[in-house]
Amino acid sequence: MKRRDFVTLASAAMGTSILWSCKKSMIETNATSHLDLMTARGGGGGAVIRYPLKFPTVVSPSGLTLDSKLAKSDLGGGLISNVWAYNGQFPGPTIKANNGDQVSIQLQNHLPEETITHWHGMIVNHDNDGQPMHSIAPGAVFNYNYIIKQRAALNFYHPHPHMLTGKQVYLGQAGAFIINDAEEAALNLPSGSYEIPLVLRDATLDKNNNLSYKPASGGMFGKIPLVNGTRSPYLNVERAVYRFRILNGANSRIFGLALSNGANMKLIGNDGGLLPTAVNLSRIDMANGERTDVLIDFRQMTNGSTVLLRDLHAGWDLLEFRVSSATVIPFNDLTETLPVIVPLSGPVTTRTFSFDAMSKINGLEYEMDRIDWTVPFGQTEKWIFKTNGNAPHPVHVHGASFQVVSRTGGRNQLYPWEAGWKDTVLLEDGETVEVLIRFENYRGIYLLHCHKLEHEDMGMMANFEVV
Ligand code: C2O
Ligand code: CU
Repeated sequence: MKRRDFVTLASAAMGTSILWSCKKSMIETNATSHLDLMTARGGGGGAVIRYPLKFPTVVSPSGLTLDSKLAKSDLGGGLISNVWAYNGQFPGPTIKANNGDQVSIQLQNHLPEETITHWHGMIVNHDNDGQPMHSIAPGAVFNYNYIIKQRAALNFYHPHPHMLTGKQVYLGQAGAFIINDAEEAALNLPSGSYEIPLVLRDATLDKNNNLSYKPASGGMFGKIPLVNGTRSPYLNVERAVYRFRILNGANSRIFGLALSNGANMKLIGNDGGLLPTAVNLSRIDMANGERTDVLIDFRQMTNGSTVLLRDLHAGWDLLEFRVSSATVIPFNDLTETLPVIVPLSGPVTTRTFSFDAMSKINGLEYEMDRIDWTVPFGQTEKWIFKTNGNAPHPVHVHGASFQVVSRTGGRNQLYPWEAGWKDTVLLEDGETVEVLIRFENYRGIYLLHCHKLEHEDMGMMANFEVV
């Protein structure tokens, strides 16, 4: 019943949104929004008005209160938008901790509906995983207590209530959770003001500049990009090497990242932390839920010059880097080999999961109290993801990271950002993706789902139990 309501709403919203966009072009008379549109189309030359990139505050997860509540956020240049924020921030505070640290977080629900926070990419026990069945009512609290037991990585916290995830994430409930460890520290990667988290997403603003959530059947695609909750952002950089911790926090949109001067970026990590080898790339694709760890070298650029981080999919300019000092900051190029990653091998069991239509895995829609398969603890398995259409489906697993072994059909290849450890992998139409996975941390109920949040909310999600 509830899901049907969602579908009806979504299709009704499609009509509204067409009407709305006509209205928008009629009322679009002020210079700023016109210029922003030019930015969004990637054209327009030098006249674009840009706003300083925002940074969420950095907090420790020890004794942290996360208050989910309605707030107002400045999207840049005083453009105020109503959002659903964690601790009043959009995106939420950046949580930073070390492997081995104790996490104690109290989630307070001051939203007008149920919610629960999930730690995407964090390997925690069932009780701390923030699954739909853990959702709490408005006014209630949920206490998380766990010890971080995993390698350094950029993870993603966001709500996970059944059928409400897309809306809540879209309205602003999302943040970065960075774990550091000794292995990573030994590499002396750029840090402090040279390590920058970038939460990418898209949004459509209504006539009052509020975030408007009107998903179509193919997902929610916003009309403008936001980086760290900032429209048309710029960032002043020195002539130095920077480390960007990038999260695709969009509901449905895939980004194809490139620099406007054609220079390479050095990819050093992804969902599950550092890669076994760094790779120079002129383009990096990221599906929603995926993360990348990228070094960009501004040392050869002159003081006063600029370069744009672009999205080649939408043709958007995401972020302008402004080189704003003459001094070159030395950097010892990564001579150390990156961490060794032992490949999983010898799967004992093979399971196949077909992601079909917009709401089904192997013909079934999610039901909170149904467990669809069990996985023996500590056993290596091969999971095969395929689809009969309506992709992209970014496939995400809770409770363990996996290693991607092959992609056949469709793009028919693996990409450098799919090496190492992953928790989300993109399945396009016609593709079959094989991964190796082993649950060796906790027994309990976990989730497999499509991370296109509108598919997830419509039921493209399944419970399994590690036994
Ligand atoms: Cu990022 Cu189950 O979610
Ligand atoms: Cu999907």
